[in-house]
Amino acid sequence: MVSLFARTKRFSLPTLLLLLELFTIYLRTADAQIGVCYGMMGDNLPLANEVVSLYKSNDIMRMRIYNPDQAALQALRNSGIELILGHVVVGNEINPVGSSSEFAQYVLPAIQNIYQAIRAQGLQDLIKVTTAIDMTLLGNSYPPSQSYFRTDVRSYLDPIIGYLVYANAPLLANVLPYFSYSNNPIDISLSYALFNSTNVVVWDGQYGYQNLFDAMLDAVHVAIDNTGIGYVEVVVSESGWPSDGGFAATYDNAHVYLENLILRAKRGSPRRPSKPTETYIFDMLDENLKSPEIEKHFGLFFPNKTKKYPFGFV
Ligand SMILES: *[C@@H]1O[C@H](CO)[C@@H](O)[C@H](O)[C@H]1NC(C)=O
Ligand SMILES: *[C@@H]1O[C@H](CO)[C@@H](O)[C@H](O)[C@H]1NC(C)=O
Repeated sequence: MVSLFARTKRFSLPTLLLLLELFTIYLRTADAQIGVCYGMMGDNLPLANEVVSLYKSNDIMRMRIYNPDQAALQALRNSGIELILGHVVVGNEINPVGSSSEFAQYVLPAIQNIYQAIRAQGLQDLIKVTTAIDMTLLGNSYPPSQSYFRTDVRSYLDPIIGYLVYANAPLLANVLPYFSYSNNPIDISLSYALFNSTNVVVWDGQYGYQNLFDAMLDAVHVAIDNTGIGYVEVVVSESGWPSDGGFAATYDNAHVYLENLILRAKRGSPRRPSKPTETYIFDMLDENLKSPEIEKHFGLFFPNKTKKYPFGFV
């Protein structure tokens, strides 16, 4: 099976991601493995300071934003919320051979420049610089043990992985079982995609997979390991399930996925069981200006700040 995770681009201009972990002076709760992405592509969304308040009142202590929005950064000051910040210059989900290929050559130099600037300030252990990939960079992802990066992207990816090993920084991966399932509901069962299968569904050597999320994440782990460059941690920079707008996009499915994802983040994957998986739920709010339709319905909250589903992070 080839990788099934192709996903519509959300940006015309891809954006280079910086991972900024601002945990220095802020309190850090031991359990804050889970965060939420804050996308802003809506014309009916609350003000940034209201959104930050919404994070705090719901104990969401990590945030990923896609560009350095001034109002959001201002509101985050002293909030205690840790941040992954995307940078407008260059790429979320840069695909070195696709439509964004012209940007790929800038990713590593940009990462290195930023890293050197951070290092010059002695902040390299606090601020991690990295980039986000999507699953289309995998040549094969199933079973996870047979996963590898496509040969046509290796010349782009290998130096980045080398840098991540050197800087001890994580790679960000968007892991969205929804798109795999909706593209292939014949071969993939809904309960496997929603984490509510009670048995192992896929045995892969000694590793048993009860859910697709783990299989996809371990496919990334194996692909990294198969480069032979070194150990790189993977942070799940987006995961979620839409409540409307497409196949299997229902309130109930999204609710089940969300509850189970929150539980899942406390654990590791079958291949890397010892550490919880830092995971960012996609997305905080429904964003009415996104397209296609399916992309508008990933929010945990409606634009009027009402919770779409009952959930809690503690
Ligand atoms: C998992 O949840 C979905 C959505 O509620 C449901 O359709 C499915 O039957 C559940 N599967 C199991 C094994 O409980
Ligand atoms: C918020 O919006 C949702 C979806 O439109 C609606 O169902 C809900 O009643 C609204 N809540 C309030 C308090 O207005």
